[in-house]
Amino acid sequence: MNDCIISASILNANYFDIKSDIQKLKEANIKWLHLDVMDGMFVQNISFGIPFIKNLKQNISSMVFDTHLMIEKPERYIENFIDAGSDIITFHYEATDDIKKCIDMIKSKNILAGISIRPVTPVEEIYEYIKDVDLVLIMSVNPGFGGQKFIEATYERVKKVKEYSLKIGKKIYIQVDGGVNKDNINLLIESGVNTVVIGSAIFKGNIVDNVNNIINSKR
Ligand code: DX5
Ligand code: ZN
Repeated sequence: MNDCIISASILNANYFDIKSDIQKLKEANIKWLHLDVMDGMFVQNISFGIPFIKNLKQNISSMVFDTHLMIEKPERYIENFIDAGSDIITFHYEATDDIKKCIDMIKSKNILAGISIRPVTPVEEIYEYIKDVDLVLIMSVNPGFGGQKFIEATYERVKKVKEYSLKIGKKIYIQVDGGVNKDNINLLIESGVNTVVIGSAIFKGNIVDNVNNIINSKR
């Protein structure tokens, strides 16, 4: 757990009082903020966009902005999300015809590049890109909404990505997103995850207590 980074997804935070929610995340020693951008096309839902992230970053520069683009043709907006203050940009493998271009656009601005896959996409399909990225995000729910049930097949998918990255000698962040909580985090870490996205298990109820419970659940 000590080396597993928690990235807090603010999708279900209180946007009217986001300042106080973020203050609580800081109190709980959370360093990464996970920003779920949804366009109503790649996923059914619509969330927030560039001005929101820019404004947040201007006010909370100390946190790592982990932007998860669930949008069609992310190459159209990658530059804007970098300018808004993202430290990591993760786009979906299924959302673009030009994966290399997306990775190059992100890396050219010296921030970290991540590639994500839906639960239905075979993990093998992204192997060829692992050498070029800093992070692989394995979705453990169908992207679009917070509060969904964790898909158990994720553990095997994580193990495969971990094995492949070891095989090619590439150090990457292996991230899982969706339905993560204190009951599955240990097995995820054992499978090879080193960063987890957590939304409802942090924001439902007392934020500081929830984070502490998750951290203390480590075996
Ligand atoms: C889902 C998003 C997730 C989500 C996680 O499409 O990518 O980041 O907010 O929320 P929980 O932890 O509630 O599944
Ligand atoms: Zn996400």
